[in-house]
Amino acid sequence: MSTAVRNRRIVLAARPQGEPKPADFRLESEILPLPRKGQVLLRNRWLSLDPYMRGRMNAGRSYARPLEIGETFVGATVAQVVESLHPEWSPGDWVLAFGGWQDYAIVEGDALQRRLDPEALPVTTALGVYGMPGFTAYAGLHEIGKPKPGETLVVAAASGPVGATVGQIARLHGARAIGIAGGEAKVAHVRDELGFDVALDHRAPDFAERLAAAAPDGVDVYFENVGGKVLDAVLPLLNDFARIPVCGLVAHYNEAELPAGPDRVPQLMGLILSRHLTVRGFIQTDFIGLYPEFLREMGGWLREGRIRYREDVVDGLENAPEGLIGLLRGDNFGKRIVRIED
Ligand SMILES: NC(=O)c1ccc[n+]([C@@H]2O[C@H](COP(=O)([O-])OP(=O)(O)OC[C@H]3O[C@@H](n4cnc5c(N)ncnc54)[C@H](OP(=O)(O)O)[C@@H]3O)[C@@H](O)[C@H]2O)c1
Repeated sequence: MSTAVRNRRIVLAARPQGEPKPADFRLESEILPLPRKGQVLLRNRWLSLDPYMRGRMNAGRSYARPLEIGETFVGATVAQVVESLHPEWSPGDWVLAFGGWQDYAIVEGDALQRRLDPEALPVTTALGVYGMPGFTAYAGLHEIGKPKPGETLVVAAASGPVGATVGQIARLHGARAIGIAGGEAKVAHVRDELGFDVALDHRAPDFAERLAAAAPDGVDVYFENVGGKVLDAVLPLLNDFARIPVCGLVAHYNEAELPAGPDRVPQLMGLILSRHLTVRGFIQTDFIGLYPEFLREMGGWLREGRIRYREDVVDGLENAPEGLIGLLRGDNFGKRIVRIED
């Protein structure tokens, strides 16, 4: 029999101009209605923080609809079923859900993404390497990047869940992986723990020269995660028929307007033409048909220790806003997740 549950949730308080600030978020408390037939009541345990959340704070057209002012922030969660009015789910089940920035969530049982087995892998991996970011890496390489043995791949945000997975999968395909990250500790992790062939710091004053020296045979796959000066440094190194899966541009997400300067579109289009480049933007859901194959193959790689990952834990739902603000600045070291507590 259901009892009323008090729920804390974080809503969009204002649309940010540039970098989000704490006042753009608001913590609220409410009594939840009772779940109806077909629904489940979830206790969110872990919340994923992801760069795309910045885009949801803006008004205007994108690949997903913007958050309304006063609406609970969206986000993937690892949760436990508290009460189920759906035949497939039982109290205690661990699930991957789109539970949002809140302690509890009432969702349609049919909308739950998948059941999690805490004995098989740590449940938090479902938010990172064994979830949406890992799938993004897998699908973007499978469908667009297509690294071949002996080729050179470059990826930035290389200690984060997408970049780390991209470089390691590329190596499993026999390619050389160059990872780019911000700061010494991340660079050492990418090289020594994740096993990239080369790791470079994008903050180094001679970063472009170092990248050119690290890719003497040019670049065949540039997995675009950031844009900015990393893209500038990679462009002259691209080989004929190079592939660029355009996955994200996190260096630009907080920009309120286009940067000043010369119009570089003709130069970029000229390069796409003369070097026969494939540049393709994608959202991971474009390739959702690959998801079962991803779960099977990545599950094996994780259990065999062939793919490694790092997590970065923020404690407490109330600290999620600072966690997202920091993620967009590069403060995270690994997949950023929030441990939700009462
Ligand atoms: N298309 C899709 O379906 C899809 C799905 C998931 C993610 N994505 C995109 O994939 C990218 C990586 O996502 P993630 O979840 O793995 O993020 P993440 O690596 O956990 O976090 C973002 C990282 O971006 C780096 N960064 C921020 N500003 C930068 C700058 N100016 N120059 C270079 N690097 C900068 C920082 O790392 P450093 O400190 O190392 O620079 C920061 O830690 C993002 O662009 C995201 O939007 C796309």
